[in-house]
Amino acid sequence: MEPLFKGKHFITLEEWKKEEIDVLLEVSKTLKSEFYSNKDTTYLKNKTAFLMFFEQSTRTRNSMEAGLAQLGGHATFLDTSKMQISHGESAKDTARILSSYGHGIACRNCFWEVGNKFLREMAANSTVPIMNLQCDIYHPMQGLADLMTIQEVFEDTKKLKISIIWAYATTHKKPISVPLTQILLFPRYGMDVTLAYPKGYELPEWAIEQAKKHAKENGGSFRITHNMEEAFQNADIVIPKNWGSWVNNQSSAVVDDLLESYKSWKCTEEMMALANKNVKYMHALPADRGNEVEDSVIDGEHSIIYQEAENRIHTAKAVMAMTMGNK
Ligand code: CP
Repeated sequence: MEPLFKGKHFITLEEWKKEEIDVLLEVSKTLKSEFYSNKDTTYLKNKTAFLMFFEQSTRTRNSMEAGLAQLGGHATFLDTSKMQISHGESAKDTARILSSYGHGIACRNCFWEVGNKFLREMAANSTVPIMNLQCDIYHPMQGLADLMTIQEVFEDTKKLKISIIWAYATTHKKPISVPLTQILLFPRYGMDVTLAYPKGYELPEWAIEQAKKHAKENGGSFRITHNMEEAFQNADIVIPKNWGSWVNNQSSAVVDDLLESYKSWKCTEEMMALANKNVKYMHALPADRGNEVEDSVIDGEHSIIYQEAENRIHTAKAVMAMTMGNK
């Protein structure tokens, strides 16, 4: 398997042409099929990557670690609180040194107005690809797995009605990177995208403008509503998920009066009944069960969350296989 995008950073899908994303999806599908047929997939034999985490993770860490092992390489997990970064070492020095030790550097840093800048600083100083494992703005690994899952379930994504819906949650103040990535990516595949949220949970204006531009250029549409019911009505796919009020309020406090006033923004069976008969329920996970969604929905017949989560490993492997070739 040729690393067609050798050395290319994977920080946002906005920097990947649609044809390049299509290649990543094709490779993901091949790797999934090869995983199921137990084929040797050591396309990155003896290659190494460093996985730097400023935050917790289940899917992202393990899909990268297991994924690189299945490709014949080795991933080193780095808890950044145990690195010299915690004593102030710069992103530049970290990237220069780690890139001299291996073939890829991946990083999760979701701190608001810090994470993406940190990744960019590493990218400017790295000789190997920098892979974004989620920052304050983007979560491209999740976006790619979501798109793969949608393509597996629906033959044609054009004019597919997909609703990205804010939901109430109290577990932690979540980044905006998942919905932001989705509103930028799905219109590029001709989908009719609805973004629904209560006032106060806006995404940045530049992202909204970019989503509209992608919709116009690719035959899809993009609209915003503050009415939750409207977003569920006639939807083919619903993605009800919490995100924080980062644009308007940078406080990291989880629960505040604004959040508490929107407890009714929950994905219930009643809401699902407004959607198309065969509607699919998606969630990047972890879900705040009981707050964001009723158990009967997330565990019900419309839910494709486990397929979506499983596809994280196949897409992660595709990104590594295509970017982490020989130096
Ligand atoms: N969806 C996702 O990124 O999951 P983790 O936070 O567990 O990595």
